[in-house]
Amino acid sequence: MKTILVKLKETEYQIHIQTGLIERIGSLINKFQHSSKIIVISSHKILRLHGEKLTSSLHQVGISHETIAIRDKEHHKNLSTLQLLYQKLARLRTSRNSLLVALGGGVIGDITGFVAASYLRGIPYIQIPTTLLAQIDSSIGGKTGVNLSTGKNLVGAFYQPQAVFIDPNLLNTLPKKELESGFYEALKYGIISDPKLYELVIKQAIKFSSHQNISLYKIICRSAEIKAFIVTKDERESHARMALNFGHTLGHAIESASAYRKFTHGQAIGHGMILATQIAKQLEKISAGEAEKIQNDISHMAPLPRLSNLRWQSICRHMLSDKKFIDNRLKFILPRKIGKVEIVEDIPLGVIKTIVRNYLRGIF
Ligand SMILES: NC(=O)c1ccc[n+]([C@@H]2O[C@H](COP(=O)([O-])OP(=O)(O)OC[C@H]3O[C@@H](n4cnc5c(N)ncnc54)[C@H](O)[C@@H]3O)[C@@H](O)[C@H]2O)c1
Ligand SMILES: [Zn+2]
Repeated sequence: MKTILVKLKETEYQIHIQTGLIERIGSLINKFQHSSKIIVISSHKILRLHGEKLTSSLHQVGISHETIAIRDKEHHKNLSTLQLLYQKLARLRTSRNSLLVALGGGVIGDITGFVAASYLRGIPYIQIPTTLLAQIDSSIGGKTGVNLSTGKNLVGAFYQPQAVFIDPNLLNTLPKKELESGFYEALKYGIISDPKLYELVIKQAIKFSSHQNISLYKIICRSAEIKAFIVTKDERESHARMALNFGHTLGHAIESASAYRKFTHGQAIGHGMILATQIAKQLEKISAGEAEKIQNDISHMAPLPRLSNLRWQSICRHMLSDKKFIDNRLKFILPRKIGKVEIVEDIPLGVIKTIVRNYLRGIF
């Protein structure tokens, strides 16, 4: 089992990664046995696929628990779902000694984390992520929250879990496009800090798209390590953590301009990373050869749905209304080379406009 420590100013917790871990999750959770009540928050689908393994492992060590199933599409990550959950927790007489367990992807994890942060002014929770994206990204670092109709993740809190338990076997049931979505996020870690991870992700993604057997263990361990390291350095995203936004400035804008329907998060980030690389090339931050390699590799990982039907005006509007732009300065994370990025401020809007417009027309 690989264990990674996330050491923060006021708290610390461990990330445990092991194939088949879910089968013995009961004994691992036993450490938190002082909890008077354990409440698993998940979705009907995930419970059908993996709930039994969790339940029998908990029963084996004599832990009883309650389960709450919620809907876990992106548009359910909202205030109504929160209200429903608060009421269910109240009916179950949840106290500050209770422990919430998030079993699911980033949507379940973000909602459960925020409920844990806010119910009774804070109760403990643990994360058992079930998507590749959640295993390498959203379950680590304590960013929790929900969307408003006016924007994504606008209501939230930094609230760290007690522990994160990662079992790569849970990904065996993941739909293809959700696994691919995680690959883009893993590639991001490679570009921001680890050329070896970059090559590993490209290799595994190409194998996966040609239906060969793949192993995700190393990718998960290394990505989780990078995320944990960055979060440890910068818990509240003042500087170092901003590198994690590589590909996300335009990626988020593409996601919201297409109403979160056409692309998975990772696919939108795939486009966002290509565009950020082109901006870096234009500003001579990266060599033309390295930029071309990144673009080609991303295009060959998996077919990215095209951006046709999207317009620059719409992407621009969403980009400028992103919460990261509230001070009205265009900050981009740009690649210098594979393994190194830089925060660049005040990029002329005209540069971004030309690059995005050309990309929409298929020119790059
Ligand atoms: N908190 C953070 O730091 C952070 C970071 C990145 C993303 N996020 C958030 O994460 C969310 C996206 O999360 P996601 O990509 O994990 O997707 P998701 O939670 O939307 O899950 C995608 C789909 O996969 C299904 N699913 C989950 N696990 C499964 C499994 N093992 N087998 C079969 N189906 C399964 C879900 O039911 C859902 O339909 C977004 O809301 C995003 O804002 C948060
Ligand atoms: Zn992301």
